[in-house]
Amino acid sequence: AAFDAGEHASYMLKEILEQPDSAERVLRGRLVERFGTAHLGGLNLDARETRAISRVKILGCGSAYYVGQMGASLIEELARIPADAEAASEFRYRNPIIEPDTLYVAVSQSGETVDTLLAVQEIRRKGGRVIGLVNVVGSAIARECDGGIYLHAGPEVAVASTKALTTMFLGFSLLALQLGRVRDLSIADGRRLIEGLQRIPDHIRQILGHDDEYATIAKQLAEAESLFFVGRVRGYPVAREGAQKFKEISYRHAEAYQTSELKHGPLALIEASVPTVAIVPDDELADRNVAALHEIAARGGPLVVVTHATVDLGDLTATRIDVPACERELDPILLTLPLQLLAYHAALHLGHDIDKPRNLAKSVTVE
Ligand code: AGP
Repeated sequence: AAFDAGEHASYMLKEILEQPDSAERVLRGRLVERFGTAHLGGLNLDARETRAISRVKILGCGSAYYVGQMGASLIEELARIPADAEAASEFRYRNPIIEPDTLYVAVSQSGETVDTLLAVQEIRRKGGRVIGLVNVVGSAIARECDGGIYLHAGPEVAVASTKALTTMFLGFSLLALQLGRVRDLSIADGRRLIEGLQRIPDHIRQILGHDDEYATIAKQLAEAESLFFVGRVRGYPVAREGAQKFKEISYRHAEAYQTSELKHGPLALIEASVPTVAIVPDDELADRNVAALHEIAARGGPLVVVTHATVDLGDLTATRIDVPACERELDPILLTLPLQLLAYHAALHLGHDIDKPRNLAKSVTVE
């Protein structure tokens, strides 16, 4: 192979551990502290064009789509532009309305995912403007877009994506910052986010340092045939990504749900053999999240709570994983990291091929 896993047992582990460096790379040279903004030269959008954007539509597949959901929240919160993400594989089959004042964003590690590529071509055929968040330089999607942000994650080999997703999230943070500062985001808020972004690589290092703890928890989760991953609002795409990673390499049934929707159905499945991994950031929803977790505990469901040290779980019976607090908008990426390691250690414990899970390809280039 052109790249090798070196001293690491797998590419996935190597790529997980590379995340502080790839996070530094995607941010490097793109933060303008003086003006509290980002500088993304490759977008090919001037201030007037930026102000004319009335909506942002993000398209990607699988994990790239879930990070796209995180990106949509960032754009709505920071730039106050209506934004949403959709699976590119669905978008192009429903004869979507392409609007001239919508900014379309295609997100892809490989830049070769056929569903995303064909969505980009369809949008451009209809006169829409598309920018790319792409890792592989010169890839098909990168070439088709009107502009974009290269992610500089470095080569990613393991089928289960990790470091590329982290750089996608940071790429969206930069995009939201730049769009926001041309619109209503204050210079003070821009600077606050820049400081938060600069702390991210160290926060990642700190989280990765708790690997032993995650390994113990993962072994317990690996025994279950079926698990839930729950979160709400900012935490929901984190839960989706956590479930995706877990099922890809552990082959366990892992289902993501909005915590708020549990009582509308899936609570019926909760019992001692079905663990739940819950994402509970220290935000305005923390108390409601904890109340919902009591409903799970009352039915004997084992709980792992990925949260912040400042969240009071009261008398809830749960295993907690605390991640460092950053700026609230940036929480999702830090909450995602322990989930990568839970999936990794579960698959390792079960003896699966970590880098090449059954039935999956690194990039899906045929329809
Ligand atoms: C991630 O762990 C998956 N293997 C998969 O969902 C992946 O993110 C998706 O296929 C998109 O790939 P891309 O980023 O190369 O377009």
